[in-house]
Amino acid sequence: MSADDILVLGATGSTGRRVAHRLSDAGLPVRAASRRGAVRFDWAAPATWEPAVAGASRLYLMAPHDVPVDPAFVRLAVERGVRRVVLLSSRAMRDERLLAAEKLVRDCGVEWTILRPDWFNQNFDEGFFRDAVLAGTVAVPVGDARQGFVDADDIAAVAVAALTGEGHHGRVHEITGPRALSFGEAADVIARAAGRPVRHLGAAEDYRAAMTPLGLPPAQIEAEIAAFAALRELGDAEPTDTVRQVTGRAPKDFTAYAADAAARGAWRTDGASGSADRPGRVKRGDRG
Ligand SMILES: NC(=O)c1ccc[n+]([C@@H]2O[C@H](COP(=O)([O-])OP(=O)(O)OC[C@H]3O[C@@H](n4cnc5c(N)ncnc54)[C@H](OP(=O)(O)O)[C@@H]3O)[C@@H](O)[C@H]2O)c1
Repeated sequence: MSADDILVLGATGSTGRRVAHRLSDAGLPVRAASRRGAVRFDWAAPATWEPAVAGASRLYLMAPHDVPVDPAFVRLAVERGVRRVVLLSSRAMRDERLLAAEKLVRDCGVEWTILRPDWFNQNFDEGFFRDAVLAGTVAVPVGDARQGFVDADDIAAVAVAALTGEGHHGRVHEITGPRALSFGEAADVIARAAGRPVRHLGAAEDYRAAMTPLGLPPAQIEAEIAAFAALRELGDAEPTDTVRQVTGRAPKDFTAYAADAAARGAWRTDGASGSADRPGRVKRGDRG
């Protein structure tokens, strides 16, 4: 352990795993933390916080879906020496939980950067859409509104720049891929790459029909439909140039992502899938 350590939360998840790898590949001292990580950290077990954070100078701050960022942890981190916080927030689905986390970080008294990525590409092969892809239909009630799907590797590259470089303090990085696609277009790209039929179902009743048999409470389904409707109302997402500006290289295109995932066997069901490197499954009903 050193005072230069960078504490990475969610280090077994889609972004944290990539952030931790990039930092350690660069020879930087990383504490890769989560419930199953090299360093134990559990939002639900405050006794794990102090040993994880004490003496670290920088923090990649993320909380899993539906888990709030606890203000007591951020206070503790700053008290124990953290001087820079990079928060994973969201561009697409902006709820009270993430708005509160953003406010907390802006007010925490040390250098901060907020990352607002759009939908992760990796939802389709590592996350909560994978089962739907394998079943052939992905129900997301946003109609044909185009989304700024972005690769988790690009999010991690921006996060690492913010953790280690200069000029990011006080900035909000809106992170997208190079072009916006509708879920229908994304499903077509995956279908071609995976060599299996995949269709998007974009209406509220499709979502109800998909979620009800899974046992989700009706009130939750309706709340999610309302959140998706609000996103749909925003229309097509406008891609940003953040990845290029921050990292100096172009963000990965969705077609290249799908080709790489398919080549790894991400959507194979014959036992040769690339799932060994997949993080713990995100529960169904979660979204960006
Ligand atoms: N998916 C999207 O399209 C999208 C888009 C924008 C923003 N986001 C935001 O991104 C976040 C999810 O990030 P991600 O995709 O990088 O993570 P992820 O792949 O969903 O993985 C969750 C991570 O959190 C850890 N974790 C779970 N429960 C924990 C607990 N109680 N205490 C400590 N760690 C815990 C998991 O590791 P262990 O199981 O080892 O603890 C894992 O490392 C959410 O806040 C979401 O709102 C998502």
